Amino acid sequence: MVKSILLKKRPQGKPSVSDFEFVTEDVDLQINEGEILLETSYVSVDPYLRGRMSDAKSYVPPFELNKPIQSGIVAKVMASKNEKFAVGDFVSGMLAWKTQQTSTGEGLTKVDASNAPLSAYLGVLGMTGLTAYLGLNQIGKPVAGETLVVSGAAGAVGSIVGQIGKILGLHVIGIAGTDEKIELLKTEFGFDAGINYNTSKDINAELKKLAPNGVDIYFDNVGGPISDAVLFNINKFARLIICGAISVYNNTDIPKSISVQPFLVKNSALMQGFIVSNYAEKFPAAITHLSRWLAEEKLTYAETIVDGFDQIPNAFIDLFEGKNKGKMIVKI
Ligand SMILES: NC(=O)c1ccc[n+]([C@@H]2O[C@H](COP(=O)([O-])OP(=O)(O)OC[C@H]3O[C@@H](n4cnc5c(N)ncnc54)[C@H](OP(=O)(O)O)[C@@H]3O)[C@@H](O)[C@H]2O)c1
Repeated sequence: MVKSILLKKRPQGKPSVSDFEFVTEDVDLQINEGEILLETSYVSVDPYLRGRMSDAKSYVPPFELNKPIQSGIVAKVMASKNEKFAVGDFVSGMLAWKTQQTSTGEGLTKVDASNAPLSAYLGVLGMTGLTAYLGLNQIGKPVAGETLVVSGAAGAVGSIVGQIGKILGLHVIGIAGTDEKIELLKTEFGFDAGINYNTSKDINAELKKLAPNGVDIYFDNVGGPISDAVLFNINKFARLIICGAISVYNNTDIPKSISVQPFLVKNSALMQGFIVSNYAEKFPAAITHLSRWLAEEKLTYAETIVDGFDQIPNAFIDLFEGKNKGKMIVKI
């Protein structure tokens, strides 16, 4: 039996399970010369998939209706007619939401289960770790002693950004949605301070207290009013890394935000959009750094692991409810 999850309709507002179709087929998958047969082990669910579920123009094409969704997946090679892959190897790459599938191996990378838990290749040693490392370094250009603010701070990207900030000698403030997450930022991830945006009466005023010398780098994962509040605190020559805007991904109207231009002009500040795939040539060096910091226990990571193929849509939807700490992953 092969199970698949297809995009049935394009979500309007917040996605719901009824936007997806679950299909089970009684097929015995065969491979041709040059192909491998894969069994899915771990599936990454990511906020950016929401963008691909709509048909608006973006940096990656939209998912097609009635076709399986694709995301980062770690899978085991069950049969191989491709000399680059042996039975028992694990690979990671963009694959379909299917329990089994065939592949030519193109775009897949072998991952070493003895080096790190397999799920880590979808998080700290995968796309989200690379995003944290490259976004902070390439656009943030951190200098020891500066102040870094991170939104979405307890998530997959944010929790790694803050820790790298500490490794590089920054003063780090995280913004997240619950007191429990703020506690985690300080105790597990070494952040200096945190703000719960759901209970804060005035994020701008709280930031002024926590960062009396102002904000030099803002790593923005969420957009919206949280990011507006940060703008009031930026320093001269601040760098604003626009990595994501989850707070508006489900909006059906054009979001209302304050005008950023006066803040950027007054502070000679840089605001730049970041897409991790634009930095592919820097991935190997970034992974070397992240792996070394993990081995030296300077870096740690959290995962929220949900069990079962049928739970993939729910785990994806839960990202918009903040149900994850660290990387949200589905174990098959
Ligand atoms: N540009 C790139 O190349 C790239 C690559 C990877 C990720 N990203 C972006 O980076 C961001 C983080 O991704 P991730 O994979 O690390 O996800 P994540 O942070 O692990 O998960 C999403 C988190 O967003 C927070 N959130 C949900 N709704 C929110 C809202 N309305 N306002 C504020 N926070 C909200 C929730 O935490 P709380 O409990 O704190 O609300 C939730 O846990 C996303 O915007 C994503 O699209 C961009």
